Formats: sequence, structure tokens, C-alpha cells
Amino acid sequence: MNSSRNAAFFITFPCRNNAEKRVIINTVGTFGDAIEVWFIAEGITLSPMVCRVRILILIDRRLVMKKLVICKVCGFIMEEKELKDVCPACGVPKTAFVEYKSKVSEKRSAILDLHFHPITVHFPEAIAVFLVGFTVLSFIFGGGFGADLMTTNLILAYFFPVTVVIASATGVYDGKVRFKKLTPPWLKIKIFLGTALFVVSLIVLCLFLGTDYTSSGGRLLIFLFSTIGLGLSVALGKMGGRLIHAVMPG
Ligand code: HEM
Repeated sequence: MNSSRNAAFFITFPCRNNAEKRVIINTVGTFGDAIEVWFIAEGITLSPMVCRVRILILIDRRLVMKKLVICKVCGFIMEEKELKDVCPACGVPKTAFVEYKSKVSEKRSAILDLHFHPITVHFPEAIAVFLVGFTVLSFIFGGGFGADLMTTNLILAYFFPVTVVIASATGVYDGKVRFKKLTPPWLKIKIFLGTALFVVSLIVLCLFLGTDYTSSGGRLLIFLFSTIGLGLSVALGKMGGRLIHAVMPG
């Protein structure tokens, strides 16, 4: 830090987006531990304000980058200060770690780290599996137990379209944050498949509400469309799993 009384000085911090942030401080007379400061950060000049030196340090600490390290063996990323003797993921000695510089801004990383999409996709995927599985079991067992399985499927069918909408909404949001637009080829395919899954989930619900779902014919139709739904879920998941490590910089 360069400083001199009653003159401009600046402090330079390494920032999370890998750029250096220079905070220019212009002292106009010092009184007590308060100074008048200008912040010139990221090209935006804020109006002059008076603040205490201690507060200034607190503000700047939030700008300072956490030092990240990556395990060269398994790719696990963590904060350097949390690293003990071995990699918590694969167990190799800490000498395998090197400094990691993220190409993604702190704000976008924070959003992606919430894992909205990977969490919400489990609901429609589980429902698709149960719809097919319980329908097959109802054919095998038949009778009262078979009818009970189909009644359970009726409840699941109500939730199917709702969970597909939620998973698709989080997928679109995650995709936009990850790739900054919704037009890359795989995102367009996923949006198409997600829409198809929504239509199929509505058809399954209509079959439950409009046909005798305990009859052989009703169960066969439900099995058919639930299997299409399961296939779409698997396709969405397989594509999504390959996208999880892809992200646009900035
Ligand atoms: C309809 C619009 C959708 C878009 C734009 C979309 C986009 C994405 C993107 C960008 C990823 C990468 C990881 C992430 O950002 O979380 C992903 C992952 C994934 N998506 Fe989607 N998705 C959509 C719908 C769905 C639906 C409806 C399902 C399931 C029924 C699904 C299942 C998955 C799964 C299983 C992953 C991998 C998650 C993981 O491995 O943790 N997606 N999706």
C-alpha cells in the first residue's frame, strides 16, 4: 500500500475474477481515524464519502480473492486454507495440489454452486422410474396389490408435470448462467426434450384421469407413455451430465 498524508494513494487487491482491483483513495485531511475516500473500481466512480479506515478494510476484504487450489490427480477444487495433509476427495498427499484460477466470475460461480438444476431434476426422474416400475409390478402381481400400485402411480402422475416444469425452469436458468445464452445446440435440444417430457407427463396424467387405470388396456397405455417419459428423462440426464463441467468464462 502506498500512502502519504493529504495525497492520493491506492491499494491494489487481487480479485475473484482474476483481475486486479485498484481502489484509489484520496485523502483530504485526516481527522481521527476517518478519511474522505473515493472509490474508483471497475471504471465506476462513486461519489466521495467519509468512512472509517476500519470499515474500508472490511469492505475491501470482501473483494479479496479466496485462494483456490486444485488436485492434479482427481480435479477436486477447494480453498487453500482448508487443505490438510491429503486431498479430501481422492486421498493423495497435499503435494498434488496446485493453484487454481477460476475463469468464472464470483457471482456466476455462486449461482451455479447452489445446484438448483441438479437437485430439482431428481424429482421427475424418480417419478418416471416409479411410474414404469409400479406399472410393471401391477401386471406381475395383479389383484388388490396391483390396483394399489396403480393408485400410487395416480398420485405420482399428479406431480409429474409440476416437477418437469420446475426442473425445466431451473435447467433454463442454469443453462443461461452457465453459457450466457440459451441458443447453444445442446441447450436447444434439452429445451426441446424437456418440452416433450412435459407433454408426455400431461398425457400420462390424462390417461390416469380419463381411463380405467386398473384395466389391462389402461395400464398398457400408461406403461407405454411412462416408458417414453423415462427415455426422455434418461436422454436429458445423459446430456446434462456431460454439460456439468462446461462453462463460459467471465
Ligand atoms: C428443459 C430445459 C432444460 C435445460 C435448458 C437444461 C440444461 C441443463 C444444463 C445446462 C445442465 C448442466 C448442469 C447444470 O447446469 O446444472 C443440465 C444437467 C442435467 N439435467 Fe438438465 N436441462 C433441462 C431440463 C432437464 C430436465 C427436465 C431433466 C430431467 C427430467 C434434466 C436432467 C438433467 C440432469 C440429470 C443433469 C445432470 C445433473 C448432474 O449430473 O448433477 N434436465 N441440464
